[in-house]
Formats: sequence, C-alpha cells, structure tokens
Amino acid sequence: MTSRSTVVAVLTMLLVAACSNSSSTKSRAGTPATFTVGELAVFAPLPPLLGAREQRLDEARTALGRTLFYETALSESHEISCNSCHALDAWGVDGRKVSVGHKGQVGTRNAPSVYNAAGQFAQFWDGRAKDVEAQATGPILNPIEMAMPDSEAVLAHLRTAKSYVASFRAAFPGEK
Ligand code: HEC
Repeated sequence: MTSRSTVVAVLTMLLVAACSNSSSTKSRAGTPATFTVGELAVFAPLPPLLGAREQRLDEARTALGRTLFYETALSESHEISCNSCHALDAWGVDGRKVSVGHKGQVGTRNAPSVYNAAGQFAQFWDGRAKDVEAQATGPILNPIEMAMPDSEAVLAHLRTAKSYVASFRAAFPGEK
C-alpha cells in the first residue's frame, strides 16, 4: 500500500466511525422538523411578476425596458449597456472577477446576476439601494461604469431618438 492510499484508508475509517457514532443523525431521522409558515415561504414558487410594486407592468413597458437594457446610448462612450456586465444570455453576469466599465476602467466589485433581482429585499452587495427602481440610475451615472455626466444628458440622448419618444409615450401615456 502506498502512503497515499494508507492516508485515504485511515480517513475513510475515521469518517465511517464518526458517522456511526453520531447520535444527532439518529434523532434527526426520528423527529420530523417543524417550520413556521414564514420559514416555509422561502421555498415557495416565485410569483409570476417580480417587483411590480407601484409599477403597472404591460407589454409596452416591458418592451421599452428590454430595449433600454441593451441601449449603449445610455453610456457616455456609446459602447456599454446594462447587458455588457449583466449578459442576459450568460445568466445575467459578465463572468469576471470584477466588472470592466467606461474606457476599460476596472471596478471593485463582482457583477451579481440581474435574474430575479427585482424580487430581492435590497440591491447591491451592501444593500445600499432599496429596490431595482432605486438601483437603476446608479450604473448609468457611475463614472467607471456607464459614465453619463448627469440625468439631463441621459434624457437628451433618449429624446434625440424618435423611436424612444414614441415608446415612452406608449408605456407612460399622459406623462411628460
Ligand atoms: C460596468 C459594469 C456594469 C454595468 C454597465 C451595469 N452594471 Fe449592474 N452591477 C455591476 C456591479 C459591479 C454591481 C455590484 C455593485 C455593488 O454591489 O456595489 C451591479 C449591481 C447591479 C444590480 C444589483 C443586483 C443585486 O443582486 O444586488 C442590479 C439590479 C443591476 N446591477 C442592474 C443594472 C442595470 C439595469 C444596468 C444598466 C442600466 C447595469 N446594472 C449596468 C456592474 C454593472
């Protein structure tokens, strides 16, 4: 027997001994656990619509949201969209340790998936935004992400595209 296989054999014996002596395993098997309704709710199926708190969601709004998610004109360089760091065909992430944004600047945090993010009780790793509505302007104005100077510049970009004026009117009728 090589010394490596001796180590493996000893570890296996220890593991078997440890498991067979474990009284907690026995009592767990005999006593069914009880959960509160609140605890069980964690395992409930996701609701059909996530995060539609005060928002009325319809075809026009979701179509507009989808277009904006891929819109590079929302970045100063016209090269970056939400999808650059949260690729929807890659589980909503960029597959990097930390994200790379405006002019190749490297961020300090890993991009979490946007899948089901609207259902979370807080946004960002430190929970600094309450919901996705509060989170949304962050990356657009963040100097190392999409780097738009201010919200007026974002609106100016959108107003120049006739298709957006029509899409916003359809999604938010009667609003300015
Ligand atoms: C340059 C890369 C980059 C771009 C572009 C970007 N994000 Fe992010 N996103 C991140 C990183 C990194 C975080 C985590 C930041 C933190 O926790 O401080 C994040 C966090 C988020 C979160 C929070 C998810 C969670 O689980 O907490 C949401 C939602 C999100 N981004 C949506 C968007 C949307 C919508 C856009 C486009 C308007 C966008 N992101 C553009 C990199 C990016």
